[in-house]
Amino acid sequence: MARELCLILDFGSQYTQLIARRVRELSVYSEIHPFDVPLETIRALSPKAIVLSGGPSSCYEPGAPTVSPELFALGVPVLGICYGVQLTAKLLGGEVVPSSRREYGRAHVRVRAGAGELLHGFQPGEELAVWMSHGDRVERLPEGFALIGETDSAPAAAIADERRRIYGVQFHPEVAHTPRGGEILANFLFRVAGCTPSWTMASFAEDAVARIRERVGDAKAILGLSGGVDSSVAAALLLKAIGRRLTCIFVDNGLLRSGERAQVEALFAGAFHADLRVVDASARFLDGLRGVTDPEQKRKRIGRTFIEVFDEEAHALGGEAAGYRFLGQGTLYPDVIESVSHRGPSAVIKSHHNVGGLPERMKLALVEPLRELFKDEVRALGAELGLPRNVLWRQPFPGPGLAVRCLGEVTRERLDVLRAADAIIDEEIRAAGLYESIWQSFGVLLPVRSVGVMGDQRTYAETLCLRAVHSQDGMTADWVPLPYDLLGTISRRVINEVRGVNRVVYDITSKPPGTIEWE
Ligand code: XMP
Repeated sequence: MARELCLILDFGSQYTQLIARRVRELSVYSEIHPFDVPLETIRALSPKAIVLSGGPSSCYEPGAPTVSPELFALGVPVLGICYGVQLTAKLLGGEVVPSSRREYGRAHVRVRAGAGELLHGFQPGEELAVWMSHGDRVERLPEGFALIGETDSAPAAAIADERRRIYGVQFHPEVAHTPRGGEILANFLFRVAGCTPSWTMASFAEDAVARIRERVGDAKAILGLSGGVDSSVAAALLLKAIGRRLTCIFVDNGLLRSGERAQVEALFAGAFHADLRVVDASARFLDGLRGVTDPEQKRKRIGRTFIEVFDEEAHALGGEAAGYRFLGQGTLYPDVIESVSHRGPSAVIKSHHNVGGLPERMKLALVEPLRELFKDEVRALGAELGLPRNVLWRQPFPGPGLAVRCLGEVTRERLDVLRAADAIIDEEIRAAGLYESIWQSFGVLLPVRSVGVMGDQRTYAETLCLRAVHSQDGMTADWVPLPYDLLGTISRRVINEVRGVNRVVYDITSKPPGTIEWE
């Protein structure tokens, strides 16, 4: 079934991704493309609706981002948001001027009488709470346009040309601070553009399975399964499409949390009957880490060993001669957008963490079945495919695993200490009902010995630091004010149950200036 597309042209607003998500929440598929995508490409995509995003520029600046005026003659409904409405007005013959008063933050838009389709369901004279963020404003409307909403400082807060189905709003309907923004977007998609709300995870899964089957044909694919959300969902989808022609490789690097490997085995080899190869390479990883205390060195050595092990395992499968032609990966949409954005690949802090270079070495073509999805959609898809909640709502865990939480030299003994303490933290955070509301909660083993007393014995042992942070995306984070009794329970249990730790401290550093992981 051909799916209906809402095309979003990105002029650099921090909210562009949010527009895409809101549209998808209304069950219409959306894609973000850079503002300068050629008109032929747009025609080929044949969108049902087009949204022009906001952006930081002023449309009169030399070199300001723009589109071909022909965009408005495609017969596809257009909604301009913020910069998008200013550009629309300018290109269609109106006038845009710098505002005498810049307007940022909350504002109220008065709905005008006869406001038409975009503001269907709103009453004339009604005041809508909206979120504004603009310096310029539309001073004179282009011909054919009517004013449908106004504020004192942005008289043209909402405009419409019903005949050509071109609309614009100066405010941001996509943000939570515009509580009824969803109704405005829904009016645009359904009343104006005639979209049908048919994009669901079930329909996505069905399409994706068909596309994977067509692409992979009767060849085979390899996928590195880490146990994290993205690779697990990618694996489940590929499994549904090509079954045991998918080989999942799980590398046990000896740096995993307690029970992790067993969970992956039980789920994928057990419940899902996947062709799962578990490589126990812990001795090799630990050998590579012997004597290493420098954080960057640790990461480099782990990354290198991972590539070697994965490469060997893939070759052992027989490579192309045995039919292996594809490498499955759980790349998500935000990574895809970042790499094509006109702002250039932005400084995605974690990119260097991910294992690059595999496909080139192995001459496999990539299959990335999640590249159109946001994280919450990946979870919904995973649920659709039958993955359990504890996999879908797992907290992020770094590729180099416990090694970057075991400060100083990484030895089997110290990892065992950390693993045991970490399991207690995990258990208590879950028992307190906090696991899913916290971005990450974990222990860090510090190579700091201090004196203690247990029973009548003097102890001299290492320190466990507890870390728990709230975050949206890992880029910034706040430490979590965990309840004192929970802190007390964790501390008591760790000291009583884990030999090798006699002191527990709590990390109250946010990011920035701290990072989430200690190394
Ligand atoms: P930092 O420590 O830089 O971490 O504040 C931000 C987020 O990224 C995770 N992280 C990693 N994820 N491979 C990963 O897949 C890695 O090497 C890696 N290092 C850090 C970290 O757990 C946090 O969620």
